Amino acid sequence: MASVPSLASSLHQRIADALSAALPEAGAADPLLRRSDRADFQANGMLALAKKLKGNPRELAAKVVEAMQISASGAEPAGELIKDVEVSGPGFLNITITDEAIVKTLAARAADDRLGVPFAEAPGTTVIDYAQPNVAKEMHVGHLRNSVIGDAVVRILEFSGEKVVRRHHIGDWGTQFGMLIQFLIEHPHELDHEGEVSGEEAMSSLNRLYKASRTLFDSDEEFKARARRRVVDLQAGDEETLALWQRFVDESKIYFYSVFDKLDVEIRDEDIVGESGYNDMLAETCRLLEESGVAVRSNGALCVFFDDVKGPDGKPSPLIVQKSDGGFGYAATDLSAIRDRVGNLKADTLLYVVDARQSLHFKMVFETARRAGWLTEDVKAVQLGFGTVLGKDGKPFKTREGETVRLVDLLDEAIDRATAVVREKAQDLTEEQIAERGAQVGIGAVKYADLSTSVSRDYKFDLDQMVSLNGDTSVYLQYAFARIQSILRKAGEARPVAHPELALAPAERALGMHLDQFGENLAEVTASYEPHKLAGYLYQLASLYTTFYAECPVLKADTPQQVENRLFLCDLTARTLRQGMSLLGIRTPEQL
Ligand code: ARG
Repeated sequence: MASVPSLASSLHQRIADALSAALPEAGAADPLLRRSDRADFQANGMLALAKKLKGNPRELAAKVVEAMQISASGAEPAGELIKDVEVSGPGFLNITITDEAIVKTLAARAADDRLGVPFAEAPGTTVIDYAQPNVAKEMHVGHLRNSVIGDAVVRILEFSGEKVVRRHHIGDWGTQFGMLIQFLIEHPHELDHEGEVSGEEAMSSLNRLYKASRTLFDSDEEFKARARRRVVDLQAGDEETLALWQRFVDESKIYFYSVFDKLDVEIRDEDIVGESGYNDMLAETCRLLEESGVAVRSNGALCVFFDDVKGPDGKPSPLIVQKSDGGFGYAATDLSAIRDRVGNLKADTLLYVVDARQSLHFKMVFETARRAGWLTEDVKAVQLGFGTVLGKDGKPFKTREGETVRLVDLLDEAIDRATAVVREKAQDLTEEQIAERGAQVGIGAVKYADLSTSVSRDYKFDLDQMVSLNGDTSVYLQYAFARIQSILRKAGEARPVAHPELALAPAERALGMHLDQFGENLAEVTASYEPHKLAGYLYQLASLYTTFYAECPVLKADTPQQVENRLFLCDLTARTLRQGMSLLGIRTPEQL
């Protein structure tokens, strides 16, 4: 494994060195290097520097050019990286890279398993909270985003060398369980089944139970009272009650796993630490907050107040950690989870992939944890608050009947649509392959549509657009990848080999320069938790490949060397696409 410096970073270094050689008084000045349409790169740093030193920017730029040639005759043979530098405009440098440098750098990337992408300089430990459905409840469209974004962020962080601890903070506790458990006690065979049940079956019995117990709860005062007493038993840790509660959790897990499986998101049992997992800490969390004065009693409830958080009536609206009846709420659990994640799991970063509509909750929770000293300065806490999935009408996505859309229904529909697309284009795929690819394309389409939008924005769920072969879709990327694989298969004896001695066509240069930026793109995506920037990079890569493919014959190129060099570009494009897509959690079938 060897990390490969990008052309941009090598050039940056060259100019920075030349700057300090030409102008020792400037110190470490930034050459401000940018990609440019005129040449390959433009350096603008001389303008600001001349202003600072009260000199003439064009003269300064000329000095830098001179110094660059001096250093070029040193360790690095002249002309290896830079083909041409010219001073232009008020004092920019326009720089063109040699074709040779491009192909050599790409060859170094190709020789590395990680495509030359370095590990993060100072990896730490991130605990990420994502994919958090609720026990005994159906997963809906809102759970799509917390699963898909979280999974991508996990993959991206792990690729950078970060230690990642996953936490699925499932809703598995609360008063509604008193009602469910009491109902099960009175109808003991309702969750019985012989042998295996499917996820759908598990969910439908949970649904049936939920509806029946709710009806009883609303109509029968005596049942209501029994259900309330059952909550007390549950909270007191009564064994029989806990055992029944566990049956609901287990039954729900059968269902969750089936949905995550369809979504092609891997969830591990040991990472599911639901709200109930923090029960033992809640009383202590409250005690510590009260003793330190971070929280105060107000009308019996334990509250934390904030100067800038007010309700619609203008009165301060507190974070309630413990209700006046002694019950603990969502906030007590989240504060306890922070203590666990920082204190026991040694996190230096906490991420929460949770709906943006919970932003105020997290703002108050983080601030409380800071006041209490549980979140110290060296720990970063970030909510990746995601936007809402909208229907075609621009309103939150609902079924025609106005109900919340079940996640499985939405995934099934995407798979059906994608299977139709795959079948139409399939040349020599068996029925079984069509079904498998249909699922990979359909799920990829849903994930890509989600991940190519920036996390905080809402987006419209539009299957027609998502499975379209043209445009910014995963299908387009998957077809680009499959097309390359088919070229490589058809190449016969010819192998991908880099030939730095060859001159490059414009489309080859553009593709090559973009391939070289993969590591830089990933570094940015990793630092900002913005998968949509990776999606954007990959889409541009596929587009540049499409242009290259239209303008540069591969197997019918003029010389055997050119065939090899173009196969090399094809192969590196495919590998970069596959790596990038896999970081988004999207499959790249070899053949479509
Ligand atoms: N289960 C919650 C929901 O479905 C999300 C939990 C988010 N995580 C947290 N630590 N509060 O909305």
